[in-house]
Amino acid sequence: MTDIDYKNLGFKARDTHANYISYFKDGKWDEGALQKEDTITISAFSTALHYGQQAFEGLKAYRRKDGKIQIFRMDENAKRLQTSCKRILMPEVPTEKFFDAVKRVVEANKDLIPPYGYGASLYLRPYIIGVGRNLGVRPAPEYIFGVLASPVGDYFRAGLSPVNFEVTDKDRAAPNGTGQVKVGGNYAASLMSHEHAQERGYADCIYLDPLTHTKIDEVGAANFFGITKDNVFVTPNSSSILPSITKKSLLYIAEHYLHLKTEVRDVYINNLDELKEAGACGTAAAITPIGRIDYNGVKHVFFSETEVGPITRKLYDTLIGIYFGDIEAPEGWITIIE
Ligand code: PLP
Ligand code: COI
Repeated sequence: MTDIDYKNLGFKARDTHANYISYFKDGKWDEGALQKEDTITISAFSTALHYGQQAFEGLKAYRRKDGKIQIFRMDENAKRLQTSCKRILMPEVPTEKFFDAVKRVVEANKDLIPPYGYGASLYLRPYIIGVGRNLGVRPAPEYIFGVLASPVGDYFRAGLSPVNFEVTDKDRAAPNGTGQVKVGGNYAASLMSHEHAQERGYADCIYLDPLTHTKIDEVGAANFFGITKDNVFVTPNSSSILPSITKKSLLYIAEHYLHLKTEVRDVYINNLDELKEAGACGTAAAITPIGRIDYNGVKHVFFSETEVGPITRKLYDTLIGIYFGDIEAPEGWITIIE
């Protein structure tokens, strides 16, 4: 990756040296292999294409100051993929197989991991799809598990600056649907609201809980958090949002590094005044401060539309410090690739 503008990588699929692919046939996984091209040949009858039987993950490998590479909380992604697989009747990818695939892809693309100092990383996209000839609505006879990679920068906007969101009147997941797992159907359901929000100048949209439409659920591709006026880190408790690994990490960081109280509870859209700061959090989004949320014609500004609040900044600095190995991580969060 010479002549690359590491500061403005954005979030795009780029060429890499290799991706991983493994096939599940006759009830078992093969050992998997690396391939150069990011193409696969599957039956056009595949359940992944017709019935959305597929799931994915997102995690990142970071270049540290000492040149080593580290991966953040890979065990959590392995577990969440297993939960997704269970929910839509796909064979689980064993944790060791997941680790092996991720490590092989990181090692094969070592020189594509952006240098330390740009805030950029190698995004890893594990996926599993139902394949093979099938017509009725039923689980596929065969599966492919793969891991793709791409060097990426910021998802929403370069650097730590606030973005604005609007509240959508659509739902991305049903109350007892698939919101808690990372399956493609949730994202197909989000495309229209996302595009409408972007057309109107917002970074993305916020979904309310699908049952009562009174509480914040999450952002299209990230969870939501806020800081109350008395410095409590709050984040929604909902059965229709993805259990974000970044959110789980921030709850820990808020308590153990910043010594804040934390609450996982309802956040009412008509009570945003209780929050002095707010943000979106996720692997791709990292921490993105929210400047303003627009809902039913009301424009609610949190800390500022241009400046980052002090607690959001501390959370960001700590999380990013841990990602890049500058701040010691809690035990088990980091896998170093020698
Ligand atoms: N919510 C949605 C809908 C997402 O797509 C993501 C991204 O993975 C998140 C939340 C954040 O989850 P994580 O922190 O595990 O990346
Ligand atoms: C992630 O943060 O890893 C995501 O999957 C979000 C989005 C790009 C789908």
